[in-house]
Amino acid sequence: MIIGIYPGTFDPLTNGHMDIIRRGLRLCDRLIIAVAVNLLKKPLFSVEERLEMISDSCKDLGNIEAVSFNGLLVDYCKENGVNFIIRGVRDSADFGYERSMALMNRRLPGALETVFMVSDGESHFLSSSMIREIAFLGGDVSAFLPSNVLPFLNRKTNRA
Ligand code: COA
Repeated sequence: MIIGIYPGTFDPLTNGHMDIIRRGLRLCDRLIIAVAVNLLKKPLFSVEERLEMISDSCKDLGNIEAVSFNGLLVDYCKENGVNFIIRGVRDSADFGYERSMALMNRRLPGALETVFMVSDGESHFLSSSMIREIAFLGGDVSAFLPSNVLPFLNRKTNRA
């Protein structure tokens, strides 16, 4: 069984992430969507909320599991038999950052490979922070999110 992992902050999950999830699923038998408990970021959504939005949005897609993890990604991967990491690349700015992470993950114990997927043209301009900002300023972000993520965001912006 080939197991892939798509790690990220997912604050919140967007259609850009969904594009990578759908295409990444074709590369493995099982895809783990891993919410990183990132000490450097102050997420809007709790880990539980992010896991719920991922599980709901992916329930009809196939062999997908939403998990959270603390600590190093390579350690989680080793403990769970993960074969490779999947990351989406939107533009050249993403590529620089992603290349550093991929090289580091290959040098850390476990020598994990990363597969980069170029973001779909429909979603390459999306980012979670931009969506959060637009939502808090009263803009309509429904075109950029899976439909079940919108109520989570509306609750935070008091538009429920
Ligand atoms: N579509 C839309 N948005 C995308 C996207 C896509 N395909 N790909 C990335 N993004 C956006 C995200 O929405 C997010 O936006 P924001 O910063 O505006 O909120 C941004 O790009 C960052 O993406 P994300 O996937 O959340 O990455 P990250 O940098 O927050 O997290 C981890 C990267 C979790 C993979 C990394 O920090 C990690 O592995 N942490 C665990 C600890 C560890 O092992 N560290 C050593 C790593 S070498």
